Amino acid sequence: MSRKLRVLFAASEAYPLIKTGGLADVAGFLPLALQDLGVEVIVALPGYARVLEQLKARVIAYVSTFRGYALIRESRLPNSKVRLWLVDHPLFSERHGNPYLNDEGEEWPDNPIRFGLFNQALARVLAHRTAIGHKFDLVHCNDWQTGLLPVYMHQEQLVTPTIFTIHNLAYQGIYPASYHAELALPPSSWSHDGVEFHHMLSFIKGGLVYADRITTVSPSYAEEIKHDEFGYGLSGLLLYRSDDLIGIINGIDTKTWNPATDPLIAATYDAEHLDRKVENKLALQRQLGLPEDPDVMLLGNVGRMVEQKGIDLILDALPALVRQPVQIVIEGSGEARFETRLAEAMSQWPDRVGGVIGYDETLAHLIEAGADAFLMPSRFEPCGLNQMYSQAYGTLPIVYPTGGLRDTVVDATEQTIADGTATGFWMDSLSRSALERAVTEALARYREPSVWRQLQTTAMGQDFSWKHSAKEYLRLYRGLSRMAGTAGGR
Ligand code: ADP
Ligand code: GLC
Repeated sequence: MSRKLRVLFAASEAYPLIKTGGLADVAGFLPLALQDLGVEVIVALPGYARVLEQLKARVIAYVSTFRGYALIRESRLPNSKVRLWLVDHPLFSERHGNPYLNDEGEEWPDNPIRFGLFNQALARVLAHRTAIGHKFDLVHCNDWQTGLLPVYMHQEQLVTPTIFTIHNLAYQGIYPASYHAELALPPSSWSHDGVEFHHMLSFIKGGLVYADRITTVSPSYAEEIKHDEFGYGLSGLLLYRSDDLIGIINGIDTKTWNPATDPLIAATYDAEHLDRKVENKLALQRQLGLPEDPDVMLLGNVGRMVEQKGIDLILDALPALVRQPVQIVIEGSGEARFETRLAEAMSQWPDRVGGVIGYDETLAHLIEAGADAFLMPSRFEPCGLNQMYSQAYGTLPIVYPTGGLRDTVVDATEQTIADGTATGFWMDSLSRSALERAVTEALARYREPSVWRQLQTTAMGQDFSWKHSAKEYLRLYRGLSRMAGTAGGR
């Protein structure tokens, strides 16, 4: 019998300890699914104040960094057997609030130092494994905050294979060139073929150049980022590395997101008891001060209020949408201009538009359960989780078919309705009017209860659980660990 694979999974957020978006869901749940497949995963996070407060974590190592010593603490992900390492340093442990942003919504000015240190501390702990008695078969990095880890590992002459997963190429961690020396990165890495990007230091390029394999979170996005439109200046590099680049779709945690057992919703239900779903609509309407109406089609949206998510298209479409027999519920936080427009829409159409500006997991569950359809007109979407949560809740997603949305939502056409595969609605282009057209189409189907119910049950029958994705990662891990001992991605 072969020995268990041991993987270090590094990320900057993980549910339920600290979350700003889907990355936390992935880092919180994929390791559990991998563990179920017999992989030993240790998740590594920065030791943010908010995380340390929630756990007891004992010190297992000290490492020197370019900014003094960091402690490595060990604990477990809550409610699981997955081990957790926290890089404890005052830059994290003495900073409260959002992991990346200050109270004004601006990046913490020392983010390059903070995440550089996180990466260097991990590389050093791997290099001095005698201190902790661990040998890893593989290191799995996620997004720009971990992009320099493969570079520091190279500097430490570690040959452990590395994977870098792109969750969102739009966020790259680009900082002035002077940080290259300040972060004590190897001089050889300062080149166009290394971490230099238009005379700036690029964290994400560390992952894209130095990791042995690159993954991203859906097959469609893996194709899209090889083209200029989605590549944010990195499509050439990704095309060059296309043999090492694959898309693996994210899963969802079917325990947390299950309408049959969800403690955060007003009434639980399943595909056989869909009539109970309406209790959630009524509860949502009550909570947000909308007229209680079981029949009106309720359109929901939850997400970061940024251009990526097409929140502007939703706001632009409101004047037309409110002329239809629908209510719209939006929960989100992000750019002030969108938050202001939502507040204005709520006061302009108090009977039609309900909203909450902020971050609230409980309400997110109630929106998934209470809405009939979920608006997700993203301009790009590496994977997206809400369209999968929506389907699990029999809430049909209305999406622009890009990235993971294309891969997980089947457009309701005559053909797909007839063959029983339809699970949602695709916009025919990326515009306000296309969103309005898709809502009109959904409304027409909503008025055909038997068709609507068929779409709901097909959506609820989809298996988006993590086990499929985890198997794909395992295949990748196994392939890579076989070549352990050989040179890295460069
Ligand atoms: P992204 O990571 O790009 O923000 P995803 O769809 O992958 O998009 O994941 C977003 C996650 O964050 C989902 O779990 C979603 O429910 C959650 N989320 C986003 N905004 C909010 C909010 N305002 N309140 C509660 N949950 C939110
Ligand atoms: C990113 C993407 C989102 C994806 C999430 C988790 O934040 O924007 O599409 O689902 O990461 O991989």
